[in-house]
Amino acid sequence: MMNEIQVYHTKLYYATNNRNVELMSYILHELEEVFKVVVNVHKQHDGLQINELVNNTMLPVLKEFEQVVEREDTSSFNQSFEYLTVACNKCHATAEHNFIRIKNPSAETFLNQNFETIQ
Ligand code: HEC
Repeated sequence: MMNEIQVYHTKLYYATNNRNVELMSYILHELEEVFKVVVNVHKQHDGLQINELVNNTMLPVLKEFEQVVEREDTSSFNQSFEYLTVACNKCHATAEHNFIRIKNPSAETFLNQNFETIQ
């Protein structure tokens, strides 16, 4: 599931850079869905309350990002994406997986998908 989340994180980066609000809100919704599955499948993981971590840290960040997209507040898009990445890494640190460090993708990964807004 984290691999799926990683893919969406990457795609969201490109959608955000292209200010493609339709695609951004679609991906944010998909991310929410995957995190809800994570909560259902792993309520606890190595003694951690995954449900609390997701519900208290990740879901509010996704909701906030969705509102920014809804308002088409483009000047906050990059900031919101940063907050999301910080939330990923915070949870990895809490889960004693701080060696899993998420960052902005450094090269376009999905060569077969167009992330530009439809004109
Ligand atoms: C609720 C806590 C939590 C959140 C939030 C979270 N992760 Fe994770 N992530 C984990 C844990 C725990 C592992 C290790 C999984 C395992 O032990 O199987 C992990 C593993 C990973 C891995 C390694 C997968 C692999 O096998 O190579 C990636 C990549 C990853 N997460 C990406 C992300 C991204 C991107 C986000 C943010 C959009 C995110 N994670 C948010 C807890 C979290």
